[in-house]
Amino acid sequence: MFTLTGKVALVTGASSGIGRASALALAHQGAKIALAARRVDKLETLVAEIQAAGGEALAIPTDVLKQEDVQNAVAKTVATFGRLDILLNNAGIGSIEQTLDMTSDGWDKVVNTNLKAYFFVAQTAAKEMLKNKFGRIINIASILSGGVGSGMAGAINYCASKGGVVAMTEGLADEFATQGITVNAIGPGFIETEMTASVQQMPDLYKGLLARIPMKRFGKAEEIAATVVYLASDEASYTTGATFYIDGGWTAS
Ligand SMILES: NC(=O)c1ccc[n+]([C@@H]2O[C@H](COP(=O)([O-])OP(=O)(O)OC[C@H]3O[C@@H](n4cnc5c(N)ncnc54)[C@H](OP(=O)(O)O)[C@@H]3O)[C@@H](O)[C@H]2O)c1
Repeated sequence: MFTLTGKVALVTGASSGIGRASALALAHQGAKIALAARRVDKLETLVAEIQAAGGEALAIPTDVLKQEDVQNAVAKTVATFGRLDILLNNAGIGSIEQTLDMTSDGWDKVVNTNLKAYFFVAQTAAKEMLKNKFGRIINIASILSGGVGSGMAGAINYCASKGGVVAMTEGLADEFATQGITVNAIGPGFIETEMTASVQQMPDLYKGLLARIPMKRFGKAEEIAATVVYLASDEASYTTGATFYIDGGWTAS
């Protein structure tokens, strides 16, 4: 089960954290992987790691905020590996900005990266997937997406962007439901990555968060990657429009 041999995946934000772990997991299951992010040195290191394990991977320098980079990432993936089956829409940024101090630029930076870019990456990928009537689009949302009782003061732009990701996931799932493309989201809880490194340095905040998590620990990127593999697989053929919260029990408590 969950074999991805012959499949081609594009992972945005593959240079660290959840994207990196997911790229490794997808490659382990046999997929060929195109790795997109801005830090090329980190992508090249990951390419070497995947190749050393017997897989195939390609680094594509990409800023998801630039339409030409997005077009290039999808075109290079198809030119190199012949098709595109799986998209992990994962590149994202966090930011702590108090509501009363929020600027238009501060809002745009987060929402454009975490939501607008997700849409245009998905749109560009879907055009390729439709050629084969097969696709798996997986969007990384958050427990801060709304509707699950986990808002966060000081991160309204982030919460709004991730709420948009869930809404977009449902809309795209409906749009492509009869065309072989599934679209799902994963809402991670607090995961140990570069994004949360500063939180772990703030003892009071970190302790408070741990107290709210039933499992009393942050998750590991590999624990998100496992769900990415499932959603990318043929076995997930009847799963679309869903958001899976992988959060140590946070949203259930
Ligand atoms: N960690 C958590 O607790 C948590 C919880 C819920 C959701 N998430 C979501 O999970 C996703 C991955 O985050 P992470 O936790 O793995 O953090 P991370 O280690 O900081 O990874 C973020 C990734 O996004 C890439 N990125 C950011 N802006 C980009 C841009 N303009 N163009 C291309 N790539 C860009 C970064 O690559 P470069 O800097 O090399 O471009 C990096 O690879 C994000 O969408 C985040 O919101 C994380």
